[in-house]
Amino acid sequence: MRALITGASAGLGAEFARQLSKMGYDLILVARREDRLKELSAELGTRTEIITMDLSLEENCYKLFESLENTKIDLLINNAGFGLFGEFTDTDLDKELNMIDLNIKSLHILTKLFLKKFKEADCGRILNVASSAAFLSGPLMATYYATKAYVLRLTDAISEELRRDKSKVYIGALCPGPVDTEFSAVAGVNFALAGIKADYCVRYALKKMFKGKKIIIPGVVVRTGVFFQRFLPYSILRRISFNIQRKKG
Ligand SMILES: NC(=O)c1ccc[n+]([C@@H]2O[C@H](COP(=O)([O-])OP(=O)(O)OC[C@H]3O[C@@H](n4cnc5c(N)ncnc54)[C@H](OP(=O)(O)O)[C@@H]3O)[C@@H](O)[C@H]2O)c1
Repeated sequence: MRALITGASAGLGAEFARQLSKMGYDLILVARREDRLKELSAELGTRTEIITMDLSLEENCYKLFESLENTKIDLLINNAGFGLFGEFTDTDLDKELNMIDLNIKSLHILTKLFLKKFKEADCGRILNVASSAAFLSGPLMATYYATKAYVLRLTDAISEELRRDKSKVYIGALCPGPVDTEFSAVAGVNFALAGIKADYCVRYALKKMFKGKKIIIPGVVVRTGVFFQRFLPYSILRRISFNIQRKKG
């Protein structure tokens, strides 16, 4: 068994690598920081290949797929991503376009290329890392929330196509609330809610993924919040969201 994990040099990606390695998976780990990937690889008990690559560059996504064309991948975890805090008119446009390239475009390309291959073989799993941000609009983190809504909607739609095709291929979206990783430092936020631990988040995600759950929300507080928000109108939700976001600045 072999898993390909993007954004494996830190946080959730590194934790996916640790737990999947313990389950016997060989790993292909992708991120930009080679030293971090090497350190992680040295602590893992199964065969590991590291690929140092900036996935926000479209051509690298194609290169990655092509370089693995003759390698059997059983599980793809599209995890690489980042956020950015600030009012929409103040945030840096180039950073946001880079975020869209990584959070949306690279995930879209890799999902399509690997899914085609998986469908032909009628096996394989894709876990796309979205966020609980996918369920709301996110004033003060508008672009990040919108990218994660894209990930959730895309993944959910494909899962229905697969179900109707009676395909054995799995695709699902992981939608955690705050998790203790490097995410908040990169995004420039302080979480209003205490984050869950990355090892809990990943253990829960893998358990649910292997059971075939399509939308995975770790943590009872966030799960309850997502459940109840369907009863509130958007006019209220976006105000609540603003107030939660404001505390992160
Ligand atoms: N932490 C949270 O609260 C939280 C909540 C919900 C969802 N998420 C999602 O979970 C995923 C993982 O985030 P995390 O919390 O683990 O954050 P993290 O600790 O900052 O890790 C992000 C990973 O993405 C990689 N990455 C960033 N830019 C990249 C690029 N251009 N090309 C390739 N890899 C890149 C980073 O590696 P390099 O810098 O070495 O490239 C790192 O390995 C993200 O999609 C995030 O949106 C996080």
